[in-house]
Amino acid sequence: MNFDEMKVELMKRITDKHLVNATISQPRQKSSEIKRVKLKPIELKGIYHIQFEYQYERILKHENVQLDNIGKFIDDIFDQFRQAHMQFTKETIQIQLSKKNKVLWKSDKTVEKKEVNLSHNRKKQYLLDDSTPYPFLIRLGVQTEEGKVKKQKYDKFKQINRFVEFIDDSLDYLPKDKQIRILDFGSGKSYLTFALYHYLKVEKGLNIKVTGLDLKKEVIEECRKIASDLEYTDLEFLVGDINDYNEESSVDMVVTLHACDVATDMALARAVKWGSKVILSVPCCQHELNRQLDSPALNIMTQHGLIRERFAALATDSIRAEILTLVGYETQVLEFIDIEHTPKNILLRAYYTGKKPTVEQRERYNEFVHFLSAKPFLQNELKDYLNS
Ligand SMILES: C[S@@+](CC[C@H](N)C(=O)[O-])C[C@H]1O[C@@H](n2cnc3c(N)ncnc32)[C@H](O)[C@@H]1O
Repeated sequence: MNFDEMKVELMKRITDKHLVNATISQPRQKSSEIKRVKLKPIELKGIYHIQFEYQYERILKHENVQLDNIGKFIDDIFDQFRQAHMQFTKETIQIQLSKKNKVLWKSDKTVEKKEVNLSHNRKKQYLLDDSTPYPFLIRLGVQTEEGKVKKQKYDKFKQINRFVEFIDDSLDYLPKDKQIRILDFGSGKSYLTFALYHYLKVEKGLNIKVTGLDLKKEVIEECRKIASDLEYTDLEFLVGDINDYNEESSVDMVVTLHACDVATDMALARAVKWGSKVILSVPCCQHELNRQLDSPALNIMTQHGLIRERFAALATDSIRAEILTLVGYETQVLEFIDIEHTPKNILLRAYYTGKKPTVEQRERYNEFVHFLSAKPFLQNELKDYLNS
């Protein structure tokens, strides 16, 4: 089969709508800005298209092409790349082209019949695709150079994907007329910080500035280096304690992922004081209430250390959610991720509405903390807001 015959064969299968997906790789020029191209069929307004996803060093670009125009795109692609892995409904085709376009064509028809999925709704899939190499995930050791998520990092990958989904759902609450200021408190190795920067800035092109703050100097230094190497200019990392962080006058979104114990409360308090429009927080271990808890009526539960710990964690998150409601947020407690991926699977989502609480809401909160003998750090931090 020669080069032109190869393209005719592929066009036949594509125009017959048998394409499931394809990855075209190995640029002919080392300096090529586009590293690889992925193809998949999608339906837009009822019309069949092939979506071309161009993967650059740091960004992805998409182009949706109707079948009438597909020939030119296939010509262009094989002028630029020498390798293709193409999945059709009843056949897998592997192509390798020599520099002079000698064709090595391998077809495997023994594969199970594959379904074509025309859905453009990426929601049900990961926002970060688990087979696309992302430079930040490679640098953070989550993916291999080829873009494969490492087995021991899969839970982390799922967590950051899920978190980015929650961020994506919250975009309507963020300002559109100015730079969006985002803080990730207790960012640690900053998987989430990088992921949200990549998603919002690189993929969605939003005007954002992101800060990750953590106590750990060495870890933050490494994050700074990665951000600088990747030229993530609007992403900064700072060493510091959440409680002492007073640099901002206003922040639009505060996120935390597993910030230890009251570090979560410190972050929530900061967020409220800034009037943050969106707060997304997945709390971590809980010690504060566990120590304070003193309610004889609960002894049947709290006599067991394990139950006491779980009860304290759930009561703490209920208190956090209620405080956020009392200071003007519409607050929900949501399942972050399947419990098999992390037992710390509650996400607090709060959108600022400014709604004043009712007298009953204030009373039931006071009764609850009194009943537990709880003296929540968050309540103390926000006492001026709770009493106003
Ligand atoms: C369990 S790690 C989570 C890190 C990261 N968010 C993630 O999910 O991979 C918790 C992080 O919170 C940081 N931390 C705890 N208390 C803090 C505080 N008061 N101020 C800043 N960072 C804090 C710790 O240093 C640690 O890196």
